[in-house]
Amino acid sequence: MSIVHRPIAYEEFPEWRVLVRRAFNDHIHPDDIARLRDERAEIDRLIGVFDDKKLVGTGGADSHVMTVPGGAELPTAGVAYMSTAATHRRRGVLTGTMAKVLEQAREREEPLAALWASESAIYGRFGFGQATIAENWEIDPSKSTFAHMPQVPGRVRFVEHDEALKLMPGVWERASKLRAGFLDRSERRWKYFFFDEERVRGDWSGMFHVVYEDAGEPQGYATYRLKQDDPELDDVQAMQVIECVSYTDEAHAALWRLLFDVDLVVNVEAEGQPPDDPIWWMLADPRKLQRTPADGIWVRVIDPVKALSGRTYGTEDRLVIEVADEFWPDSAGVFELEGGPDGAVCKSSTATPDISVSASELGATYLGGVRLQELARAGRVAEHTDGAVTRFDWMFVAERAPWCGHHF
Ligand SMILES: CC(C)(COP(=O)(O)OP(=O)(O)OC[C@H]1O[C@@H](n2cnc3c(N)ncnc32)[C@H](O)[C@@H]1OP(=O)(O)O)[C@@H](O)C(=O)NCCC(=O)NCCS
Repeated sequence: MSIVHRPIAYEEFPEWRVLVRRAFNDHIHPDDIARLRDERAEIDRLIGVFDDKKLVGTGGADSHVMTVPGGAELPTAGVAYMSTAATHRRRGVLTGTMAKVLEQAREREEPLAALWASESAIYGRFGFGQATIAENWEIDPSKSTFAHMPQVPGRVRFVEHDEALKLMPGVWERASKLRAGFLDRSERRWKYFFFDEERVRGDWSGMFHVVYEDAGEPQGYATYRLKQDDPELDDVQAMQVIECVSYTDEAHAALWRLLFDVDLVVNVEAEGQPPDDPIWWMLADPRKLQRTPADGIWVRVIDPVKALSGRTYGTEDRLVIEVADEFWPDSAGVFELEGGPDGAVCKSSTATPDISVSASELGATYLGGVRLQELARAGRVAEHTDGAVTRFDWMFVAERAPWCGHHF
């Protein structure tokens, strides 16, 4: 078997796309092959794996910027499309693809990579760490009385799909400044992710969109679908919230109030919500909101100097951090980090480390949502200077829980 990993040619894209979907046990409509090519993928970032010229593996990345603590946006490889044909699994195909994808990211000077993992056992070995939490929510809206609510001066109105797609990017852009973990979404990707034909939505209705405006300024939007919940009862429906994004607390409260107030709905589900969302604190009977946490995005630091210099920190301090990186030794080393709320400087160092971690722990803690202390208690961190883990946590903590609402 001679396995070759290389970028695919334009004309190889349809076969490549079929293979990705087949690895996820799915077929693909021919129009959706063109849609991914035209509205989302970057062909020059896609890798194919060939066994004697036959395509047996896929991978690649979408180019993004990610908000990091402090509000800067750092170039980030949004790793996706990773698959190996069932005929070739567990022979190192994915491992080779990941090496290519990271190599490409480094050539593009992206200090970070991020991904959504189909299974949580796969990516730690490649230096990725679970960096955000995504909560799946479910509630019977008849139990969703609000006991607390900010003053809401604006209004919510329904908008049609085209108008929604014009208003949403501006809201997303403003909201992305408030939380680390947000990824940008280009115009073509907005179109891709809000594609709403019957073949992609199954039993669910077309999308409904609402926008919250105050003095004519859109401050938030929500998109949802409905589905008949009980075939015997025409009017009883389930709601799936696709996105609810806002940059003011008033918009956030007004939009969720509306989502919980749509008549004839018996169940509202919303996947991937932030773990520090204020809705829990607004409900009269919070436990009625069932919250199931899951891993959100996994982050990998490709260039520790750039990544650690690129964010701000909760307290002024100086730490020397040793990073081991078995999979990608180029990112390993000892790094001296001196930083605080106004910025940071990180450089390679020969000083004695205060802490030793591997790339996966650095990725998990980088956005400030996971405490190093938890990882230390799990036996994943070596503390060489007393108190260094606690000082790390005071430095790395983010103002709001990091969160990524963009599923790629
Ligand atoms: C996940 C997938 C891409 C792995 O591909 P692969 O070519 O078999 O992976 P590799 O042979 O390079 O495996 C590398 C290591 O990861 C482990 N591994 C791979 N997939 C794993 C899984 N699903 N669960 C646990 N371990 C896994 C392998 O055992 C191997 O470990 P080792 O180095 O200790 O032997 C492949 O199984 C697949 O296509 N799955 C369906 C699609 C999917 O889930 N893609 C990931 C999208 S996020």
